[in-house]
Amino acid sequence: MRVVIQDNYEKMSKWAADYIAKKIKAYNNGPEAGRPFVLGLPTGSSPIGVYKELARMNQAGELSFANVVTFNMDEYLGLPHEHDQSYWYFMHDNFFDHLVDMKPENINILNGMTDDPEKECADYEAKIASYGGIDLFMGGIGVDGHLAFNEPYTSLTSRTGVRNLTTDTRIVNSRFFGNDPEKVPAQALSVGIGTVTDSKEVLVLISGHNKARALAATVEGGVSQKWTCSALQMHNGAIIACDEEACGELTVDTYKYFLDIERGERL
Ligand code: GLP
Repeated sequence: MRVVIQDNYEKMSKWAADYIAKKIKAYNNGPEAGRPFVLGLPTGSSPIGVYKELARMNQAGELSFANVVTFNMDEYLGLPHEHDQSYWYFMHDNFFDHLVDMKPENINILNGMTDDPEKECADYEAKIASYGGIDLFMGGIGVDGHLAFNEPYTSLTSRTGVRNLTTDTRIVNSRFFGNDPEKVPAQALSVGIGTVTDSKEVLVLISGHNKARALAATVEGGVSQKWTCSALQMHNGAIIACDEEACGELTVDTYKYFLDIERGERL
């Protein structure tokens, strides 16, 4: 696992955007050219800086999304697209609407209004497989270490399915629902931990003091379904991009180790 520690949120976002851009460009110019680059995407405050920078590159003509297919991590069950807290709305508002050459038919987001959630999730897995899997899955994590909506004690081999949200997560996410946890949907559709770890690469953004315990669990704790993010330790292509604030619970030797091996301008 790589852990890339940046001074602050802005630098973390820039590093991650540059990394994603490098991957898309290398793919478009490499032997796989012609096949779409398959990118997994999260919602939340963590990726907003990355989305802004990727959109800037796209508008400046530095990076094309014409050959990119996206799959989002999750969606609240029961929220229609036009609800301003649906992840469909978030993704269009914060990212897709700002891209000049993203093809709408290449955007995949689980449908929270489906009347057959099991089929919706099975179809999503099948569609990912039809592209040969995900090349790079960007993610964020919750304060309890949930990756997508895979709450503590979700199987580390789980696939896309319906998830019950914990009280803790509904409280944390209530900041977007008038601070009323009851207004936060009780269930979501989410890719599984196994879906994420099947990706060729996984890039997770971890920022801020409130994620310090989760970062320590991701990097230093044992692999455990209690912290579903810890499954990344078993992935050969996992990268954590974090900021200084999130490093508060790492041991000093871990912190120094990663600064040491990541020193320089390595992307
Ligand atoms: C939600 C999403 C997660 C996301 C998490 C963290 O619970 N389902 O995919 O990683 O929020 O959000 P934030 O980046 O705002 O801290």
